[in-house]
Amino acid sequence: MSEAKAKPIDAWFNEAKFGMFLHWGIYALLGRGEQVLFREHLVPSEYFKLADQFTAPKFDAHEWAAIARDAGMNYMVLTSKHHDGFCLFESEVSDFTSTATAARRDFIAEYVEGCRQAGLRVGIYYSLADWHWPVYFEGPEGHEDEFAEFIDYTHAQVRELCTNYGPIDFLWFDGQWPYSAAQWRAVELDDIIRSLQPQVLINDRLHGEKLTRLHPPDEYADRIEGYVDSSERRISATGTGRPWEVCEVMHRRWWGYSAGDRHWKSVPELMTIMAQAAGAGANFLLNVGPKGDGSFPEPAQQGLAALGEWTRQNGEAFYGSQGASHLFEFLTTGCMTQKGNTLYLWVLRWHGETLHFCGLKNDIHCARILGHDDIEVSVRREGENIYLDGLPQEPPNELCTVIALELDGKPEGLEWTKHPLWGDNAKIYADWART
Ligand code: GLC
Repeated sequence: MSEAKAKPIDAWFNEAKFGMFLHWGIYALLGRGEQVLFREHLVPSEYFKLADQFTAPKFDAHEWAAIARDAGMNYMVLTSKHHDGFCLFESEVSDFTSTATAARRDFIAEYVEGCRQAGLRVGIYYSLADWHWPVYFEGPEGHEDEFAEFIDYTHAQVRELCTNYGPIDFLWFDGQWPYSAAQWRAVELDDIIRSLQPQVLINDRLHGEKLTRLHPPDEYADRIEGYVDSSERRISATGTGRPWEVCEVMHRRWWGYSAGDRHWKSVPELMTIMAQAAGAGANFLLNVGPKGDGSFPEPAQQGLAALGEWTRQNGEAFYGSQGASHLFEFLTTGCMTQKGNTLYLWVLRWHGETLHFCGLKNDIHCARILGHDDIEVSVRREGENIYLDGLPQEPPNELCTVIALELDGKPEGLEWTKHPLWGDNAKIYADWART
């Protein structure tokens, strides 16, 4: 008797591919980023009074979720507490919360409801670092009891988040520095989380980052199922075998609302990061820092709407795809993803009527342009050279045109593409160099 195999708990994550990161808290009222308290050494007791003004009259979780949906996003991750310690949720272990101060609202409850109604997966960010606890700066030495109390408080809050809002899909930890996973008692915390939310995905920052080792890892750091690696503002796979995600801001710096940052990434720039991430096999978590009143900055809305237009036309190449940019060099032209026997060329640089590339081993049955069935693409192969002919002079999708190639099997690169530094293939390269 064969039993249906349970889907891995991270199956949704690769299907989802595109998410919205949201950094929002009392710092948004100042508009100088989420770390303004520490970076500008503001007087903490003065800064904490911002909570008395934080009423967020324009906060509407349904609107946030609708904007994410329209952009083609499938999940959101909201800061339940950032490094300043202010909580957007009801907490029995803190008064520095949106329920105990001016707003008198549990924004996490409203947010979770907004996500669910829009069919988005629910992600919650939680900063372990907490600047409203002086002992966070002092450390455990000489303050053992108070430090232990602080760690108990973080565990209690994570327990609250895992208990009070129904199923959570993704817990996104941050701010672990300068302490080790052992000092956060991360294994114990993980066990609490898994007992309350068996299906939740947890990001790598809880147990120690493999890549930087800045935060000494613990014995759970090598686990694969149920974990996601995060790559902040760079596209570099951690090589752990876990699903991974690239997070990026829409302007130059800071994740929380930053009024002085006038240079928003253009839509083609955002598109390029999304394509490179997808080609490398990563999800794309794009950040919005809503204003203090709860509304989105206008340029963020425009960028998201433009990406939405693109994802509606080209989603087939994106959702549920695997990265394929490593299969062979397609760099003169763009990035690649794959699904089954289909290879998707994400053409970021459009060279006109013929697109030439080489390195693909498979036979190509046919080629089509996503969203443009009317354009007939013919495929010509001469040895290792492949030419796609009959293309229009101008790109059918100005942002990034995707060409799907139906192949005779799973996409594979020719032998010489497998050794970027020629190694065993020196002869192949030398022969080619003499032609
Ligand atoms: C950093 C920052 C933080 C931000 C996060 C997002 O760790 O300290 O402000 O929330 O990156 O990845």
